[in-house]
Amino acid sequence: MSVIDVNNPFIIRKYLSDKYFCDRVKETEFLRKHMTNGRDVALISPRRIGKSGLIQHFFHQSDIKDKYYVFYIDIYATTSLAEFVYAFGKEIYEQLKSQKTLWKEKFFQVITSFRIGFKLDAMTGAPSFDLGLGDIQAPLTTLDEIFTYIDEADKPCIIAIDEFQQIGEYAEKNVEALLRTKIQQCQKAQFIFAGSKRHMMSNMFNTPSKPFYQSAISMGLAPIPMDTYTDFACHLFQDNGKDIDEEVVKMVWSMFDGYTWFVQMMMNELYALTPTGGHCQVTMVKEAKNNVIISQEGSYKDLMSNLPPKQKIVLQAIAKERLAKNITSAKFIKKYNLSSASSVQSAIKLLLKNDLITQTDGVYRVYDHFFAEWLSTIY
Ligand SMILES: Nc1ncnc2c1ncn2[C@@H]1O[C@H](COP(=O)(O)OP(=O)(O)OP(=O)(O)O)[C@@H](O)[C@H]1O
Ligand SMILES: [Mg+2]
Repeated sequence: MSVIDVNNPFIIRKYLSDKYFCDRVKETEFLRKHMTNGRDVALISPRRIGKSGLIQHFFHQSDIKDKYYVFYIDIYATTSLAEFVYAFGKEIYEQLKSQKTLWKEKFFQVITSFRIGFKLDAMTGAPSFDLGLGDIQAPLTTLDEIFTYIDEADKPCIIAIDEFQQIGEYAEKNVEALLRTKIQQCQKAQFIFAGSKRHMMSNMFNTPSKPFYQSAISMGLAPIPMDTYTDFACHLFQDNGKDIDEEVVKMVWSMFDGYTWFVQMMMNELYALTPTGGHCQVTMVKEAKNNVIISQEGSYKDLMSNLPPKQKIVLQAIAKERLAKNITSAKFIKKYNLSSASSVQSAIKLLLKNDLITQTDGVYRVYDHFFAEWLSTIY
């Protein structure tokens, strides 16, 4: 357990320690079992449920930290193999830089394309690594070097690639096949491929003609059960000299179907609204929600100002509907003054692609609950 102390125990950003992390015992065990038995895992679940948090939590387990080098690469914002290689190499360096091992010393000897980023501070003589994306001139060569380097590791490695489906969007078309080959040949590393776009992920791992077909054990992630989360939240209040009615937590959990990020955001605000020695009650939920929405308003406005008008109208219609069915029907089009079924369809395609809405069994909703509320009531 960590000694880090924080002002608000409902963490909404980086993983801190198991003290602030709820449950995921079985899921952590599942990862441990497959990783230690040499099987790669594809972790697929909707956004904001807690995939990245689970991976971080798993990486913080003491047996895992001792036995493996662990690397976590988020490739959500990458669009080419060069960016992938850049993110991959930087993460390895960042993890290893404070360690004193022979393997670390070989970093620039093996990954020669990164040498350009190695500098010695003129004043202190301390080594630093400052690489620009433009320095990746031959991504294929650098990728080869990175995998060669990993195979020389003095301990096994676990490499988690988050938002893995992104490689399907790269400018180069052969990245899937290329990576699959590299990973298959790699002796020293196990992989966790995490992703939130179910369709793309499952296409990658479950289509016989695709390079990653059946190469990993599939794992889903459901919301943390309501009772488990309620216990966790009540304890965090009590441990910090505050009190909360169980029904507040249950109400918040139900409001967001247990989706971790939204629930944590609300609990973080409710905690902030409750004075030390105070008592958090159901009557505070509305204010907390408004505060959260207002705190995000700047980014919602930015988002809307960058969205083409046709998508804006459809997005707001879906938000007002909450759960929108038959969105290309004459009734829906008339109700929200949309132009035509085909224009709704093309807007939907882009809204889905950009993660603004989600679709299950023909039902659409704005994926961010707070944004949905802002769109339907304030905007
Ligand atoms: N088990 C947990 N206990 C407490 N907080 C958690 C837990 N899992 C995740 N969180 C918190 O919830 C938020 C969302 O989790 P996380 O970023 O892991 O989700 P994700 O599925 O990776 O989302 P995205 O699809 O946006 O990448 C984070 O702020 C994280 O701190
Ligand atoms: Mg994530």
